[in-house]
Amino acid sequence: MRNPHAQRAARITMLIRNTTLPDGRTGIDLLVRDGRFAAIGPNLTHALPLPEGEPVLDAEGWLLSPPFVDAHFHMDATLSYGLPRVNASGTLLEGIALWGELKPLLTQQALVDRALQYCDWAAAKGLLAIRTHVDVCDERLLAVDALLQVREQVRPVIDLQLVAFPQDGLLRSPTALVNLQRALDKGVDVVGGIPHFERTMSDGAESVKLLCEIAAQRGLRVDMHCDESDDPLSRHIETLAFHTQRLKLHGRVTGSHLTSMHSMDNYYVSKLLPLIAEAGVHAVANPLINITLQGRHDGYPKRRGMTRVPELMAAGVNVAFGHDCVMDPWYSLGSADMLEVAQMGLHVAQMTSQAQMRACFDAVTVNAARVMGLEGYGLEVGCHADAVLLQARSPIEAIRLRATRLAVLRRGELIARTAPAVAQLSLPGRSARIDWTLPR
Ligand code: FE2
Repeated sequence: MRNPHAQRAARITMLIRNTTLPDGRTGIDLLVRDGRFAAIGPNLTHALPLPEGEPVLDAEGWLLSPPFVDAHFHMDATLSYGLPRVNASGTLLEGIALWGELKPLLTQQALVDRALQYCDWAAAKGLLAIRTHVDVCDERLLAVDALLQVREQVRPVIDLQLVAFPQDGLLRSPTALVNLQRALDKGVDVVGGIPHFERTMSDGAESVKLLCEIAAQRGLRVDMHCDESDDPLSRHIETLAFHTQRLKLHGRVTGSHLTSMHSMDNYYVSKLLPLIAEAGVHAVANPLINITLQGRHDGYPKRRGMTRVPELMAAGVNVAFGHDCVMDPWYSLGSADMLEVAQMGLHVAQMTSQAQMRACFDAVTVNAARVMGLEGYGLEVGCHADAVLLQARSPIEAIRLRATRLAVLRRGELIARTAPAVAQLSLPGRSARIDWTLPR
């Protein structure tokens, strides 16, 4: 991961010609000036002729999207799969125990190297904003220092937001509260938590109260691992919504996972959803992880475990999908592909209508950007010229094909290209090039 802007002039102008936008408009050109979109519309070539020699990207009608955004990730653990051993049971709790075994073996350089490798993967996939939780239950705060370094190093390419995450429990771990405050003093962006992992329900509720107060005092956002459990009585999201209201943190608080909601009593959920919406609490589901970690204590039928995504959306809650894990103690797969995340979320939530499939694309783009509070995000005049060109004609086709990222732009500069996925079919009496899209 290098800074592509280091040796460049501040002023870059580019024309992106003949795109399809996520809202369905086709034949759209976008003019970039000083790293932001200066004009968007049809036939800009004629209206705003470029100076001689300025770059032109011919999109050939493919879909141009704002970049992918991952609202929930663990960059301190990523790419550590197999260190020091693999998770034999595949459960959340063995994953936490395994992470505890790995922590004393970590070095800052190894953490930085793995995080930078992941950021390279992310940039190539058009994933240009990531909110990562970072474990603060380590007296050395090794991972905090490593990811603060990475945040600065990748800033020209990726917006990295750090969450102070007390993995071992804010009250359950004797030094977590002090270390969380130390991490925030060092510049970590967001207050995290894990109320369902505290010793008792009341300790969980107390941790939510304390953490929201810390965020309010410091003017920070909150993002808690909340009710990542199959226990229908794990109801910390209710407490999180309450303190969000009490402290007037509307729009700045996120409940991540919320898997217990999958198993909750329907009548209780009918009361809960309006409370979450009223408090302006964002929700993040992590489909790849929820479908593999939840329901592990079930016989058949096995619960899916993912939170109630379409119902939350229908209640007016902003819902994003996160990747959560890639090749770490909790999950052995993944490749920084937010279209894989969207595709899994779509399937697990059975969101198969046209509107719902488009909503799944939003969950890894605009909704996730709202969770992070990103400034200047989107394909609008004045926004940062950050975008990804996909080998697809629509958001639904992008999810179906997990479309190739033909080009990735950051601040108007091309930072990654991938060759189109095309197969040459050679059969007796028939030869064809196929890319799995329907004829236009
Ligand atoms: Fe997580």
